[in-house]
Amino acid sequence: LKSCNKHSSLQGKSVVITAGPTREKIDDVRFISNYSSGKMGFAIARAAAERGAKVTLLAGPVSLITPPLVERVDVESAKEMYDAARQLFETCDVFVSAAAVADYRPDSPFQGKLKKNGEELSLTLRKNPDILAEFSKQKSPSQIAVGFALECEDGLKNAIKKRIEKKLDLIALNFYDGKSSGFEVETNMLTLIGSDDTATVLPLLSKPDAANRLLEAVEKLIQPDS
Ligand code: CTP
Ligand code: CA
Repeated sequence: LKSCNKHSSLQGKSVVITAGPTREKIDDVRFISNYSSGKMGFAIARAAAERGAKVTLLAGPVSLITPPLVERVDVESAKEMYDAARQLFETCDVFVSAAAVADYRPDSPFQGKLKKNGEELSLTLRKNPDILAEFSKQKSPSQIAVGFALECEDGLKNAIKKRIEKKLDLIALNFYDGKSSGFEVETNMLTLIGSDDTATVLPLLSKPDAANRLLEAVEKLIQPDS
């Protein structure tokens, strides 16, 4: 662990981080999911623990090692992540929502294995709860809500809209060009947008470096006496 972070304002703070994809069951052997690797969320968890925060990592299905001094809770579906997160809403100082939560789930998963039948199959999908929006809605003014916005077009505009709609203190725009940034890669190019909607464009960084830059921005949001 780094010893130079003794003076981080995150020292002793309770930080909850969601990471990875979620899986939404179609039947007992199939699911809907996405390409999230969880690396960004895990890098944030590691970096927050290095700053002396008390970190709880709510992880969807990923194949990653738990960072040192991080308490990890494994979940599968968005609903499970929501239920686990809600337990922590009241006590956390900072909530970082890095998970790629599935927006929809199959409405009524089949029990057992769905048999192949006919040329078409329709599934009815139902909207999942928005974990981050729910946290923001019920948080106290001293609690900090940090989100991500994965965008393929109109990045800044959409990220600012999400920041306002979800009442976030900070949002990290993750522009997905299918190559250098985003899912399943080692690097990330983030743009940090604060509550005054000024954007700081970070260079292409390793995910650990991007995590540190994000947490530097979070440290500045923490009130000295809170
Ligand atoms: N998020 C969440 N729960 C959901 C959906 C999203 O907590 N059910 C969080 C994500 O972790 C992220 C932020 O909300 O921090 C924005 O997620 P994103 O998928 O970019 O935006 P959405 O609001 O889901 O809108 P859309 O996918 O339509 O762009
Ligand atoms: Ca979404």
